[in-house]
Amino acid sequence: MSDKPIHRLYRHFQELPVSMRVMFTGTLLALGMGYMFALIYVYTSDAGRDGNPALTVEDIVISYSGSKEGTKIEAALKGPMSAMLSSDELPKILSWVNSGAERGEYEATVQPIIEKNCLDCHDGSNPHLSNLDGFENIQSVVAQDTGTPIHTLVRVSHIHLFGVTFIFFILGFIFSHAWVRPVWLKSVIVFTPFLCIAADVSSWYFTKLYAGFAWVVLIAGGIMGLCFATMWITSMYQMWFYKVPDRVRNRELQ
Ligand code: HEC
Repeated sequence: MSDKPIHRLYRHFQELPVSMRVMFTGTLLALGMGYMFALIYVYTSDAGRDGNPALTVEDIVISYSGSKEGTKIEAALKGPMSAMLSSDELPKILSWVNSGAERGEYEATVQPIIEKNCLDCHDGSNPHLSNLDGFENIQSVVAQDTGTPIHTLVRVSHIHLFGVTFIFFILGFIFSHAWVRPVWLKSVIVFTPFLCIAADVSSWYFTKLYAGFAWVVLIAGGIMGLCFATMWITSMYQMWFYKVPDRVRNRELQ
């Protein structure tokens, strides 16, 4: 208890009309469901990229900055296709892939090697094998994985920033009617998600430059989820089950 008066605009849930609490409850239920689907989406789109079924930092690195494993053709030529080339032909193909897989060098050195060694099987007649016949077709196995393209990130960023701001404005507004002391703690819970979304979105780009930022993506997402859960549960509980202290209802000192 302190000697500061309770703010004259503060209203606890139980001082609000039933219709308003019902609306808040509906909103919380829908937002909670939305959050579940968001988690399922993150899990199904990112988890497992590194071979480990859980969502790991490595998954996030691969998702934003690309896999360092190299291209499909390199993996095949060092693995199951290693017997298909002679030892002087292999380095020619690898150096072509690593120098950017340009058309000029393809026509000069690579095309004859592919035609001689690979097209018996990879001529497109077998639907289960990549068609390697010609410069256009071979693109599918020489593309470097550089992660989500910047243009896609920009699109997702603005949708995400607007969307998450709406969610946490609505949630924070509802939660502001809960009785939580000290006030600074309540304010931190309300404000932190906005910091997290800013850190999260900017780290998508930074992860392209330095993989360590994947940790920020993961941690910011975790803290945001924690704030969401805290506000959701506290609001729902206080709205329907909690009895607000008499001194608060009677507008005595805090
Ligand atoms: C005798 C038939 C045959 C020849 C010749 C052959 N491959 Fe394959 N290739 C296969 C088969 C079968 C698979 C699938 C094997 C696997 O996944 O273990 C495969 C898989 C691949 C893959 C990965 C899967 C895919 O389809 O994208 C690449 C890339 C590839 N081969 C490239 C090459 C290259 C380059 C050459 C020539 C140097 C070559 N292959 C020669 C039969 C062949």
